[in-house]
Parts: sequence; structure tokens; C-alpha cells
Amino acid sequence: MISAYEEAETSITDPDLLDRLRQAKKECDIEFLKSDLPALMRESKDGITRVKKIVQNLKDFSHADVSDEWRYADLHHGLDSTLTIVNNEIKYKAEVVKEYAPLPEVECLPSQLNQVFMNLLVNAAQAIDEKGVITIRTGLQGDEVWVDILDNGKGIAPEHIQKVFDPFFTTKPVGKGTGLGLSLSYGIVQKHHGRMEVQSELGKGTMFRVWLPVNQAQKAS
Ligand SMILES: Nc1ncnc2c1ncn2[C@@H]1O[C@H](COP(=O)(O)OP(=O)(O)OP(=O)(O)O)[C@@H](O)[C@H]1O
Ligand SMILES: [Mg+2]
Repeated sequence: MISAYEEAETSITDPDLLDRLRQAKKECDIEFLKSDLPALMRESKDGITRVKKIVQNLKDFSHADVSDEWRYADLHHGLDSTLTIVNNEIKYKAEVVKEYAPLPEVECLPSQLNQVFMNLLVNAAQAIDEKGVITIRTGLQGDEVWVDILDNGKGIAPEHIQKVFDPFFTTKPVGKGTGLGLSLSYGIVQKHHGRMEVQSELGKGTMFRVWLPVNQAQKAS
């Protein structure tokens, strides 16, 4: 459009008008804008696409678009969107390995299960000192599915293992942990009529397993 106007300029004979046009062009640096605009638009579009992705992930994670009610959901989808949320906490600490088995959709409160996964993933990352591996494994057994979160971090002392689900039990420094993550997770899993198991070896690593029934016989809310 601007090029078309510039072509039309040659037929302007009024010198005053031409002068004003030249002045206006100089003021808004039209030559630079003309060359910069395509790149500017492209970068803006890239930026908007990134923002859209982040917002979509946040919405998936919180299920802001649907109210928190019992429904059948793909647990792998929940794990993946949770991973993108905690990515900052994890990425410098651990490589994440996914070993997903084919799973049926599970009747659950999806955003609450995501909270459980988030707690387990953050704990796993915090147990790793330098650089480790977090493995997420899933499987189906009978009419139950299980989700394992494994880390090769510092492990849990045998005398602590009975206490990890207790409210306010933490070995983390003041300000770092409230000790509520696992007790809240335990409550959420119980509400799903599932259970949580833990295995750990000091210095080797820890595995948390969440068992969930595929179908809820009777619902609690
Ligand atoms: N993957 C793990 N490896 C080693 N220790 C763990 C792991 N997960 C939990 N723990 C131990 O269990 C304790 C309780 O965990 P929990 O998630 O309930 O609380 P927290 O992580 O200390 O604090 P919060 O989750 O409230 O920030 C932790 O302080 C830690 O000692
Ligand atoms: Mg925690």
C-alpha cells in the first residue's frame, strides 16, 4: 500500500504538499519501518503462538475450562501438561524419561490428580542434588492403573519412610517445604479409592506409585 502511495507521489505538483509529505515520512522513519515491519509482524506472531501454548497448558493443567467434576480423562495428558508447568523446577535437575503403557481413560477429578503428579514430580526434582533422571512409568493391572514417579536422588531414610505422608513432615529447610505435599496427595488419591506406595533406598533413589481404579464404584466428592 505504501509503495502504491509512493508511486502516486510523482504526480503531485503542489510543492507545499510534497514538502509536508516528505516531512511526515521523515518523522515516522518510513524507510526503516517498511523493511522492519515484516520481521516485526513475524516475531509478534511467534510470540503470540508461544503465549497461546502457555495459556493452553495452564488451562489444561487446571481444567479452567471445565468445572472440577468426575469424568473420564487421559492420565498421560494430565502428566504431560503437569510436566510443562513444573518444567522450570525440573529442567536443570533431571532428564525426564517417559515409559507410558497404553491406558484406558480413568474416572477421576483430573485437576486434583494433576496436583498429585505435580507434588511427586517436584519432590523428585528436589531430591536430586546435581543431575539425575526422573522416570514416569504407567501401567494397567486388572481394573486398576498405576503411575510411578521414580528418581535417582538422595532417597528417604528408613526411619522417615513411615512419616512422609504425615502432614507437616518435612526434611527440607524452613521456607523450602511445608510438608503438606504428600499428605494432600494421599487425601486426593484416597478420594479416588486408590492408594499410594513408596519404596526408597538411601543414596539410590525413590519410587512413588499411585494406584487408581479405572471406574469409581461409588463416588465421594
Ligand atoms: N522423591 C523423594 N525423595 C526423597 N525424599 C522425599 C521424596 N519425596 C518426599 N520425600 C521426603 O518426604 C518429605 C515430605 O514430602 P512432602 O511433599 O509431603 O513435603 P515437602 O516436599 O517437604 O514440602 P511441600 O511439598 O509442602 O513443599 C520431604 O520433606 C522429604 O523428606
Ligand atoms: Mg513436596
